[in-house]
Amino acid sequence: MSKYLVTGGAGYVGSVVAAHLLEAGHQVTVLDDLSTGFREGVPAGAEFVEGRIQEAGRVLDSSFDGVLHFAASSQVGESVVDPEKYWRNNVAGSLELVSAMRAAGVRKLVFSSTAAVYGEPEVVPIAETARTSPTNTYGATKLAVDHLITSEAVAHGLAAVSLRYFNVAGAYGAHGERHDPESHLIPLVFQAALGQRPHIAVYGEDYPTPDGTCIRDYIHVADLADAHLLALDAAKPGEHLICNLGNGSGFSVREVIESVRRVTGREIPVQVAGRRAGDPAVLVASAARAHEALGWTPRRPNLDDIVADAWKFTLEKNAQ
Ligand SMILES: NC(=O)c1ccc[n+]([C@@H]2O[C@H](COP(=O)([O-])OP(=O)(O)OC[C@H]3O[C@@H](n4cnc5c(N)ncnc54)[C@H](O)[C@@H]3O)[C@@H](O)[C@H]2O)c1
Repeated sequence: MSKYLVTGGAGYVGSVVAAHLLEAGHQVTVLDDLSTGFREGVPAGAEFVEGRIQEAGRVLDSSFDGVLHFAASSQVGESVVDPEKYWRNNVAGSLELVSAMRAAGVRKLVFSSTAAVYGEPEVVPIAETARTSPTNTYGATKLAVDHLITSEAVAHGLAAVSLRYFNVAGAYGAHGERHDPESHLIPLVFQAALGQRPHIAVYGEDYPTPDGTCIRDYIHVADLADAHLLALDAAKPGEHLICNLGNGSGFSVREVIESVRRVTGREIPVQVAGRRAGDPAVLVASAARAHEALGWTPRRPNLDDIVADAWKFTLEKNAQ
């Protein structure tokens, strides 16, 4: 059994990973300022500390075996209009966390990076060797933290893994997606299915894809959690391993809407709008390195299964 600090463990992905760590028999402390997370999202059995990563030094000591770092601001649109918030919270906050880890002698880190570090891909599927060229401040701050972690590994022997998620979806029991404002496709289509928004907007039907809509790579949040546990085992002192996490095959916006129709049995009003600036036609991960380096294979790649788990969570939340 090991003891881990999970920053952002009251949020969507962090709460699912914290639940998996507890189920694997580990001890978990969640550090979260509840800026976008929910106190009830913290899994039973985890110790909860309400606070900012900037104050991680108050929590960390040598009894911890590692840190899983999810806490971040992650709204792409907001990052463009309020960049200082993103540099302060994501980069300055991570710097404070990494410093606190070194001061406390905690030498293992798994970090939530993102596909947004790549920007518009030149080659698909996207490998970790692809050029990094983020098109928004959110992606730029995550890339900066990846660089920070690399230098910390080289200079001070940190054992680190950055996992670059593509589109995370699905739910794990009581832990699901609740972003406000919501910007992710599947929860937005649910809102249309529930009549909470008049329609789902499809931005562009003239992309060079089979049905003309954008293709994205959806990964079940529980598969993502599996990868985090494997990353803790794979992390080696002085090395910073970077792995993309995706299914390696994508689904179009139309396919996602059809899947939600099948799973929910509901009508989904659709309105076709023009393309959004900076939306690449296809964003799909190469998961080859995660497979080789972590021994990771997604166990829930079927879109209807991902949507069904998310729908169950949404219905339960709406009934509360
Ligand atoms: N959800 C996705 O599709 C996706 C894709 C790629 C990367 N990511 C990354 O994964 C991580 C988790 O994403 P999520 O969707 O669960 O987001 P989320 O907003 O649900 O969770 C983030 C959590 O961090 C907390 N937090 C934010 N700033 C903090 C601070 N300074 N100190 C302490 N706590 C703080 C929030 O309260 C929240 O509970 C983020 O780093 C995000 O950038 C998510």
